This record gives sequence, structure tokens and C-alpha cells, in this order.
Amino acid sequence: METEKKPTVSYFRRKKEKQEKIVILTAYDATFARFARESGIEVLLVGDSMGNTVLGYDNTIPVTLEQSLDRCAAVRRGAPKAFVIGDMPFMTYQADPAEALHNAARYLKEAGADAIKLEGSAAATAALIRQMVAAGIPVMAHIGLMPQQVLVAGGYRLAGKTEDAARRLIVEAQELEAAGVFAIVLECIPAEVSREITAAVGVPTIGIGAGKYCDGQVQVVHDLLGLGSDFLPKHAKRYVELGSQIKQAFRTYAAEVREQEFPGEANSF
Ligand code: KIV
Repeated sequence: METEKKPTVSYFRRKKEKQEKIVILTAYDATFARFARESGIEVLLVGDSMGNTVLGYDNTIPVTLEQSLDRCAAVRRGAPKAFVIGDMPFMTYQADPAEALHNAARYLKEAGADAIKLEGSAAATAALIRQMVAAGIPVMAHIGLMPQQVLVAGGYRLAGKTEDAARRLIVEAQELEAAGVFAIVLECIPAEVSREITAAVGVPTIGIGAGKYCDGQVQVVHDLLGLGSDFLPKHAKRYVELGSQIKQAFRTYAAEVREQEFPGEANSF
């Protein structure tokens, strides 16, 4: 059921104040965006996880700005009443602040997004975030495990494991809030650390692998639907095995064509 009103950035703070959980799902095309919105999901993230889920790469590094903008525009068309967040790909915002601002603005101007998300420590991104917000671009931050750092980190690792690392994450979240973000994604952080971060900031925290104390959750749609590989991250839950159902449908179609059962009378003119 699609509610009439499209959320704005104030939705996020209001939800936190009312202690109502925020639900976010990734979407990469118009069809799934429509399904999500018609299921009452009000916020869609056009994640750079599209690199793994729909573009066939091993990680998010190769995703380009144009690919992301195209997908974002499709999600917007499929779900006109959703709050759509475009996830800026690797090297579309790290190299040069002016280029980053122009790239971020393209999400709003060309792809119909309501906001952008970018990964990075407060030290790396706070100044840029201030500029973006001052220019009128709502920004969601992303700390903890940052998939765009996979090559430097040498893999995907839980963040905030030591007391010192946990402390740093809390300070980072506060600095990002001060820079003007409307929400912060916490990826793969121990639940107790996320609880402390959530209590330390006024903007909502959105967890993925960060436990139940976050103000909201975000999940990758392919994980939820059983459309990915056999590997399911610990933080994800498969609500349906759509992959097997799709393969069964494809096998049946192929068999019917080979056995000349399809097309039948009903499918012919
Ligand atoms: O790209 C993505 O889907 C994300 C979420 C996992 C937060 O960044």
C-alpha cells in the first residue's frame, strides 16, 4: 500500500524522536522500487552494491557515476513517492570537492534523488559534507565497514571491535552530525557500540550488520529475496528463495519450447 505523502529529510529526525524504526531497502530498477514502495517501504537506497548485485562485479569499486545515475532515475520512475537516496560511487567524490559537488547535484537534478550517501570517516568527508549541505544537497553518511575501502582494508571486516575503535566511531558520528548529515549508516559494528553511537547523536543511525539498537535498518534487496549467490552475509536474512523459483520458471519455459508446448493456442494469434 503506497501512502500518499513523499517523505522529506525531516521524516528521519521525526522518526528518531518518536522512536519509530526507519526501514530502508536497496533498489536498482523501477520494478523492484515499485514493489518496495507498494509494500510500504518509504525510503530506497540506490546502493553502489549494484556493482555486486546487478552489474556482475566482485565489489563496488568499478561502479561509475553514469551507471549509478541511470539506476537512480529508474528507481525514481518506479517509486515517485519514495524518498530516494543515490549512493555516490568510488572516486566520484574523493578526488576534488568541486567535482564532488557537481556530481552530487546530478543526483538531484538529473536522477530525481532526494539525497545522496557517501562513505568515509569524518576526517575525510566532514568538510565536503558541509559544502554539500550548504549548497542544498542532503547527505547521508556511512561509517564502520566501508566497502569502497575493501582494497586498502584487504577484505570486509567488522569495525569498532576495540574500545579505542569504538570510541573513535562515536566521535566520528558526532562530527558527521555537526557537519550536517540527516542520517548515518553504520555497517558491521558490534550492537553495543551501535547502541552507544545511536544514543550519542540526534540524527538517526541506520544499521546494516549493526544490531537492533540502531534507529533503522537497511538491507540489500538481493539478500532478502534469495537473488544473490549462495553466500548470505551474517547480517542478512532471506525472506524468500526467489532465485530457485526463477530458475524453475526458466526451466519450465525452456522445456515447453523444446517440447513444442509453448506457444499454445492461448498465446497465438
Ligand atoms: O551500497 C549499498 O547498498 C550500501 C548499503 C549496504 C548501506 O551502501
